[in-house]
Amino acid sequence: MANIIGGITTSHIPAIANAMANGLEETPYWKPFFDGYPPVRDWLNEKKPDVIILFYNDHGLEFFIDKKPTFAIGVADEYHNADEGWGIPTIPPVTGESDLSWHIANSLVEDGFDMTICQEMKVDHGLTVPLNLMWPGYNYGHVKVIPVCINCEQHPMPQPKRTYALGQAIGRAVASFDQDLKVAVFGTGGMSHQLDGERAGIINREFDIDCLDKLVSDPEALTKYSNLDLVEIAGAQGVELNMLIAMRGTLIGEVKELHRNYHAPISNTGSGLMLLEHTMPKK
Ligand code: DHB
Ligand code: FE
Repeated sequence: MANIIGGITTSHIPAIANAMANGLEETPYWKPFFDGYPPVRDWLNEKKPDVIILFYNDHGLEFFIDKKPTFAIGVADEYHNADEGWGIPTIPPVTGESDLSWHIANSLVEDGFDMTICQEMKVDHGLTVPLNLMWPGYNYGHVKVIPVCINCEQHPMPQPKRTYALGQAIGRAVASFDQDLKVAVFGTGGMSHQLDGERAGIINREFDIDCLDKLVSDPEALTKYSNLDLVEIAGAQGVELNMLIAMRGTLIGEVKELHRNYHAPISNTGSGLMLLEHTMPKK
């Protein structure tokens, strides 16, 4: 049986890739951010998940605003990145896990989630930056990745209660897969931020920290927010919190917080790194 061993929240902003490519990790601006990562990297290197299910939002590389799936899942054997115009290195191909992807896709559609199923899919910074952050030097070749995309760019977007339910359905799908695989789940993006308009640059530290607390102990409370609530409280791109909520949904049973590092601002965002260990419910 496949088993979800834990969940991780992390920022995905392109400026991180730029800092890594230019060796800026120890500079005063970046140090408090990068100092959070070694315990999470150590955990991944110790636990050695076979598969990462990675919730992210595609910011326009694969799905532009003319075609926007609400939820999409990759079922390919390999994924490629391409230049998005951020001036950051394009990363080497990412290996997929098509058997488990198809199992999850089938199970989700059966469960009432009308997924867009992608046999080809370019992956953007929402996926690539977190992989390189966890395995610097593009050393993620040994893990297989299942991309799951949530629309956070163009209204109407799925609401937190729906993205949490998607996570729960993926959690059930993984538990019903008959191969022995260790799975970790990443929720990338957020936290509070707004990139344009009058409120560009807003960050709500108190709210971000409350969200991290609730992701541990009371995730259902986060499903009470609408996306418009999130826009008001956490900025227009604060809706990226949906990826963190989806990640938490997959962790059905008990979780234990092993590590956290909140730091703001990083570029325009509040950055919330958290590692949750998962204990499966007793049968
Ligand atoms: C930034 C934030 C994002 O969520 C993103 O996708 C790209 C850039 C930023 O703050 O720089
Ligand atoms: Fe983003």
